[in-house]
Amino acid sequence: MDLLIKNGTIVTSSETYSADLAVKDGKIVAIGTLLPETATTVIDAKGKLVLPGAIDVHTHLAMPFGGTVSADGYFSGTRAAACGGVTTVFDYPVQRKGTGIMGLINDKKKICEAEACIDYAFHCCITDIEEGKIIEEMATAVEEGITSFKCFFVYKKEGMMVDDGTFAKLLARAKEIGAMINLHAENPDLIDLNVAKFVAEGKLSPWYHYLSRPEYVEAEADKRGIHWAKHLEAPLYIVHMADKEGLEAAIDAKREGHDIYVETCPQYLEFTSEVYKREDGRNFVCSPPMKGQESQDALWKAIQNGQIDTVATDHCPFQSYEKDWGKDDFTKIPNGCAGVENLYPYMLAAANDGKISFSRAVELCSTNPAKIFGCTSKGSLTVGKDADIVIYDPEKTLTISVDNMHSDYDHTIWEGKSLNGYPVMTFSRGKLVYKDGEFVGEAGWGQFVKRASRND
Ligand code: URP
Ligand code: ZN
Ligand code: ZN
Ligand code: ZN
Repeated sequence: MDLLIKNGTIVTSSETYSADLAVKDGKIVAIGTLLPETATTVIDAKGKLVLPGAIDVHTHLAMPFGGTVSADGYFSGTRAAACGGVTTVFDYPVQRKGTGIMGLINDKKKICEAEACIDYAFHCCITDIEEGKIIEEMATAVEEGITSFKCFFVYKKEGMMVDDGTFAKLLARAKEIGAMINLHAENPDLIDLNVAKFVAEGKLSPWYHYLSRPEYVEAEADKRGIHWAKHLEAPLYIVHMADKEGLEAAIDAKREGHDIYVETCPQYLEFTSEVYKREDGRNFVCSPPMKGQESQDALWKAIQNGQIDTVATDHCPFQSYEKDWGKDDFTKIPNGCAGVENLYPYMLAAANDGKISFSRAVELCSTNPAKIFGCTSKGSLTVGKDADIVIYDPEKTLTISVDNMHSDYDHTIWEGKSLNGYPVMTFSRGKLVYKDGEFVGEAGWGQFVKRASRND
């Protein structure tokens, strides 16, 4: 054995129990009591929780966006992830007009082979199917383990928006080949209308970012996406759900037996639209924006009662000088915030504080993401799975500051947030990559996760 974690409390999505856990060649090989201490490394986890590593299924690393590139690349983004107990990240490469999928994915794979510190997978954003080749190439992507694709209902001027016809075609095609469409749901025409009005009135503070894309703007698009998915009987995963009305529509569709999945993000659980009234409101500008208290309460309720499937981060940080471009004009603020290092500590602190169970935090951040997206070797502490493991100290407290995070950004919306409990070690396939506040992994360790299709 390479590693023995003794005396810990194992947490899975369904149970919590005391046991030792043994690792060999990057895999979990035994879980039980009083396992023989013949491992090269023995760790005493008495008083600690032993959890599966988190899978952040929504990050944008080195993403060209908003006139710049997001601040974390594949090295710093995965380094930060490891230090927050994330052992797999999903990135969103963006296919562009006239270009294919596999060339893009292969280029990204090469970068990740050199830079990634933990395992990685891709959902491919599709922005244009004009030439018809993309529809064919989607099947190749699925064979290569890229079994989900993303559509944006927004970002027209960035060249990323798809219309309803394209979305419907992609939903149907994804279903046919055992894949799934992920959707960014906001209504672009309503946003344009509102933005034009506020700009004409000289209303340019970050508060008007929220007012140009309030609850009803997201709800309309959520409902439209769900409507198409229902009628085409295709699976649909709605990313970064932030509004109550859209959430309720998704819950209703699930109840009717449709294959609809809902993701929300820690920022929507922690902050409300009030942040846009702050002096540094621009730093919180992301799309969809944080919503009102009623939506936040609905999200928490759905987190608690099992109606939300995953929590992921939409990690897409920008530097202060870039956020400052929109100091006096919200339309110039690059959209996106930091989060990959905060996901698991935040949700586990919610468990430690009694808001949800530790098993539910594991389910939302690890087990469900693995199941929904076909990561068959990940997402639980079970014999035979990858030894992606987090040791969590429920007694350790940490106040988040840009100085104790491991990204390349120069500020964070999480500054000053105090968390009860914190990860103290992260193992990626049995290798220690994070210990007591320090990154101890290496670039190039991460491997591509070839995912199963929904037809497998
Ligand atoms: O504001 C955000 N969310 N930026 C990243 C791109 C996206 O919409 O997910
Ligand atoms: Zn989005
Ligand atoms: Zn209908
Ligand atoms: Zn995103």
